[in-house]
Amino acid sequence: MFSWIAPTRKPIIVAHRGSSITAPENTLAAFRQAVLDEADAIELDVHLSKDGQAVVTHDGMLHRTTRGRGRVSEWSVAELKELSAGAWFGKKFTSETIPTLPEVFDAMRGRVGINIEIKTDPHHRRQSELIDRCCDIVERYSASRFVLISSFSRAVVKHVKITRPQIVTGLLYHPVRHVGTSPVDLARSIGTDYLILNGTTIRKRIIRRAHEEGILVGEYTVNARWRVARAIRFEVDAIITDDPSTVRKRIAYC
Ligand code: G3P
Ligand code: CA
Repeated sequence: MFSWIAPTRKPIIVAHRGSSITAPENTLAAFRQAVLDEADAIELDVHLSKDGQAVVTHDGMLHRTTRGRGRVSEWSVAELKELSAGAWFGKKFTSETIPTLPEVFDAMRGRVGINIEIKTDPHHRRQSELIDRCCDIVERYSASRFVLISSFSRAVVKHVKITRPQIVTGLLYHPVRHVGTSPVDLARSIGTDYLILNGTTIRKRIIRRAHEEGILVGEYTVNARWRVARAIRFEVDAIITDDPSTVRKRIAYC
């Protein structure tokens, strides 16, 4: 059984927005491909629809991955389901739509870990509604053993940790957003289980300190061969990648 805290394989390979190199990001096609690619877990992004559902898409706006216009939060799930979320990537993906979070859980059936990244609401009006909706779904599916909830917002991570301490959390550290704060001090101050760093921030000494504090470390978004080799050398616990199949093969040769 997959576990974020006590993984049987190290590093854990996490398919970023699904296997987003071979299928349109954040669609069921990308998540199913991740299972075929032997990813240990999938990563996905959630926003709140107009009618209060957790929907899986990266941007707050619709225009990059669909023919819709405006904000995701201005559309109901029924309206969003009219849009193709796969045609932009390739004709054969035209029938892919923006999934709801429960649809992803149903499709994955516990076969992989799930990293839910809660996107921040720029107006903060419905942020706690989105967090609670995601946590309720995790509980409804009895999924806290294989779910990790992450966010760039320390307030979001703190909210999850305080209200649902059984759910594993990750703070996404951003060198600009969190400038002036040590990543490990920040992670420790909010009690997060994972500190997730990008390629410019990651240092061996940060990982060593995090491990001393009992905090696991993830790295995003690791695609290049040298990044995989470095992550292994640095003893990173979870690699987030667009191409889990290639990373799996590279790890076998390291
Ligand atoms: O998990 C890390 C990564 O997903 C954060 O960046 O922009 O791809 O959501 P982004
Ligand atoms: Ca993400």
